[in-house]
Amino acid sequence: MGMTTAGREASTAAKADALPPEELRSRVEALGPWFHNFDLGGVRTAPDHFLGDYPAVKFAGFADRLPDVRGKSVLDIGCNAGFYSMEMKKRGAARVLGVDSDDRYLDQARLAARALGTDGIEFAKLSVFDVAALGERFDLVIFMGVFYHLRHPLLALDLIREHVAGDMLLFQSLQRGSEEVAEVAADYPFSEAAVFDQPGYPKMHFVEGEYCGDWTNWWFPNRAGTEAMLRSAGFGIADRLEQEVYLCRVESFPDDQKPWRCAYPARGAQEVGR
Ligand SMILES: C[S@@+](CC[C@H](N)C(=O)[O-])C[C@H]1O[C@@H](n2cnc3c(N)ncnc32)[C@H](O)[C@@H]1O
Repeated sequence: MGMTTAGREASTAAKADALPPEELRSRVEALGPWFHNFDLGGVRTAPDHFLGDYPAVKFAGFADRLPDVRGKSVLDIGCNAGFYSMEMKKRGAARVLGVDSDDRYLDQARLAARALGTDGIEFAKLSVFDVAALGERFDLVIFMGVFYHLRHPLLALDLIREHVAGDMLLFQSLQRGSEEVAEVAADYPFSEAAVFDQPGYPKMHFVEGEYCGDWTNWWFPNRAGTEAMLRSAGFGIADRLEQEVYLCRVESFPDDQKPWRCAYPARGAQEVGR
């Protein structure tokens, strides 16, 4: 999928006069259900969220440990209704691009940004698997709550590292299994099998059916698995901000030593329609 400048500008959330409350309420309802809870001038978008006032309650747990984004560029992948995009803009990011694969969530984001008067955020339809089409790197990439919704999660991390991550990554995945992190050797002989049964060995749990009534839940790593996959995709863990949230820094590797070098063929902007 190609991304034209005109296309992105057209979807930039524009500051507009406040919508009359009844019109706002009916637009919020028409775009529901919402995953992000906002208070849009008295109209709450997800007042009955099963995680509470989400994601505000989650963000409050680590907001003060985030890097300074003033003047920086931010890419929010799987932005949903734009909570993190808007927080970054409020914190002074120079440029914020929120992308999601779902049009309805993007419409929610545009409505929320408009209603909250958060000016200048770009929202665009883009799958994480097509980030090469952006053709640029961002100071901070936000990849919160998307990893476990993908059938091919490690490929997504590899593509983010290869094409759009410029400096920092803010990452969250739902985790299941042990919180232990076993010490893993660089190699084992074929005869070694017991190590894989250690609770703290890096693992992914595959969800063949549904979890929480949601068929888009595919893979839940344990803590060791999350950390190992981040490292393997070229992200050094700078800080574990809370149980499932990591702040990572892009690590540099010579081309022939990238851990992700054999995962997929090179896929550049030309091949996705630019
Ligand atoms: C659980 S929500 C997380 C939203 C937000 N990042 C947060 O942490 O609150 C997952 C989001 O990922 C989006 N998503 C799922 N697959 C995607 C893909 N392949 N590319 C981009 N976004 C995707 C969904 O549409 C949804 O908005």
